[in-house]
Amino acid sequence: MGLFGKKRKITSFKGNEIGKTLHKNLEFTATEQYKLLRANLDFTLPEGEKCPVIGVTSSMRGEGKSTTAVNLSYVLAEKGSRVLLIDGDLRIPSIAKKMDIESSPGLTDLLMGKGAQISDFQSTLLKKWYILPSGNIPPNPSELLGSSRMEAVLKELKETFDYIIIDLPPVNIVSDALSISGLITGMVVVIREDYTEKKELETCFRQLKLSNVKVFGCVMNAAKSGGGSYGKYKKYRYYKYYRYYQSSPRNKTDD
Ligand SMILES: Nc1ncnc2c1ncn2[C@@H]1O[C@H](COP(=O)(O)OP(=O)(O)OP(=O)(O)O)[C@@H](O)[C@H]1O
Ligand SMILES: [Mg+2]
Repeated sequence: MGLFGKKRKITSFKGNEIGKTLHKNLEFTATEQYKLLRANLDFTLPEGEKCPVIGVTSSMRGEGKSTTAVNLSYVLAEKGSRVLLIDGDLRIPSIAKKMDIESSPGLTDLLMGKGAQISDFQSTLLKKWYILPSGNIPPNPSELLGSSRMEAVLKELKETFDYIIIDLPPVNIVSDALSISGLITGMVVVIREDYTEKKELETCFRQLKLSNVKVFGCVMNAAKSGGGSYGKYKKYRYYKYYRYYQSSPRNKTDD
């Protein structure tokens, strides 16, 4: 049986978290910054890769990973690509809540071989934007994310989509993001201004480097600089590779 089989009901697209922080409700400046992130990412992705799988992580909780994953996947789909957003935070999932959809069936159902219909995950906002929630919380998220079953699921999904964005837990708290790193094309790391600590960020990059995953760049979330009257969304800055990642063996050919 394929990944998708039975139908499920999707609820409407409104919810208490859908304020000014997500997709179509973003202010102009923030939307433009996500579009910039989309453009920079396209320059950074390996040429010719059919469906890049991009993990979104950070050092600690609450830095804006899920918000970034939602908005990045949205702007990619808005441009016409077929995009799947996966909630890979199988400990404290938040995508279903943010998108006001049911949390199950989801990723864990696919991992357990339960079928689902791909059309059931289509968002009501954009035709080409699909959202796969976490499914029921499993006892062993880290093992599941790095499993051969996960590899097989991603392989099949890659046949259907142009981009897959995976919202992941923070690197310094649990090993899940590192577990999946061998199965994805690379990571985007979210930093929250006035929140992320330098020491935590250093630990995060050390861990990512050890796992040998490619880091595409960082998103500076809720940055203060760069404007006077745009509230908390003054800027979403995006940086190119960190120098020491460029010199790591795996990334050398991409320089
Ligand atoms: N730029 C921003 N301005 C204002 N609020 C924001 C911004 N980015 C995120 N938030 C809010 O901060 C909270 C945490 O954001 P989010 O859920 O995206 O973080 P996270 O890194 O995924 O957290 P967790 O580690 O718990 O999964 C949410 O309530 C979100 O709406
Ligand atoms: Mg999150």
